[in-house]
Amino acid sequence: MSNTVRVRVPAKVNLALRVGGTDAQGYHELGTVFQAVSLGDEIVAEAAAPGEFKLVFHGEGAAFLPVDDTNLAIRAAKLLANHVGRTDLGVSLTIRKRIPVAGGMAGGSADAAGTLLACSTLWELGLSRDELQPLAAELGSDVPFILLGGTAVGTGRGVELAPMMTSGTFHWTFALSHTGLSTPAVFKEFDRTTAPNSTEIPLELVEALRAGDAAAVGAALSNDLQASAIALQPTLEHTLRIGREAGALGGIVTGSGPTCAFLAGSEAHSHELAEALAVFSGVRAVRRAYGPVAGAQVMA
Ligand code: C5P
Repeated sequence: MSNTVRVRVPAKVNLALRVGGTDAQGYHELGTVFQAVSLGDEIVAEAAAPGEFKLVFHGEGAAFLPVDDTNLAIRAAKLLANHVGRTDLGVSLTIRKRIPVAGGMAGGSADAAGTLLACSTLWELGLSRDELQPLAAELGSDVPFILLGGTAVGTGRGVELAPMMTSGTFHWTFALSHTGLSTPAVFKEFDRTTAPNSTEIPLELVEALRAGDAAAVGAALSNDLQASAIALQPTLEHTLRIGREAGALGGIVTGSGPTCAFLAGSEAHSHELAEALAVFSGVRAVRRAYGPVAGAQVMA
C-alpha cells in the first residue's frame, strides 16, 4: 500500500443552468452544462490507523470549514470504506483550498470527489472511475461531474452526465464575493419567486461550444438561478455590470452563486477583466482560470 496519494480536483462553472420542477425529495430537475476549470483544490491522503478519519484544511476559507463528520470529504472517505465493507481502513486528509467556499463552484463537492479517488487509490481498492460514480451521486449533485471533468450536460438532479464535444480553450475571470450563498437558500428563493422552467439546454450554446466560438458561447451563457442569487446578494448585479462594461464576452452568476464568471476572448483579455473587477469594493478577490480541464486526477 502506498503511504501518500495526491489528487488534483477542478472547480466547475455552469455555462447554462435550467431549473425545472421538484421531485418527491424536493430536488429540482436540472438541465445544465458544466465545464471543469483550472482553478482547483489539492487533496493529500495519507494512511492512518483503522477507523481513524482526519481532515485538515489550508488556504481559501480554511478557517470556516468543518472538519468533523459533517464535512463532505470525511463523509466520502467513510462511504467508500463502508461500500467495500472494510473496518481496517483509515485516512488522514490534508486539503489545500483554492476553490471559493460556498461560491457556486462545487468546492465542497470537488473535495468529496477528490477524496473518493484519493482513498480508492491509497487503499488499493481497484475501483474504476465508473464504479465510484454511484457513490459520488450519493454524496451530492455536483460530485459526479468533478470526477468526470471536461464539459458535460447534466440532467436529472445534475448527476446524469453526457460528455460534450467542444473546441479550443475558454478563458475565465471569476469575481468572488465577500460572503457565500447557501445553495438550498437560493433554490428556496427560486421556488418562492419563479415558475419551473423547461430544462432544455439552449442549442446556440451547444453549437457555439462545438465550434469553439467564444463570443457565441459568451452570448449564450444563462442561469435560471441568477435572479434568485441577486435577490439574496444585490451587489452581484453591479459586479456583472462591471464585467460586461469591461468587455466580457458574457457574464453570469455561476451555479447558485455568488461567484460571477466572465468569459474572456484571450488570456490577456482575462487579465484586463480581472483588473477592472478587482477595484470594485463588492468583489473580495478575482481569479483567472481556463477550461475545459480533466476531472479529478491522481498526481505523480
Ligand atoms: O446535491 P447537493 O447536496 O449538492 O444539493 C445541495 C442543495 O441544493 C439541496 O439540498 C437542494 O436544496 C438543492 N438542490 C436542488 N436540486 C438539485 C440539486 C440541488 O434543489 N437538483
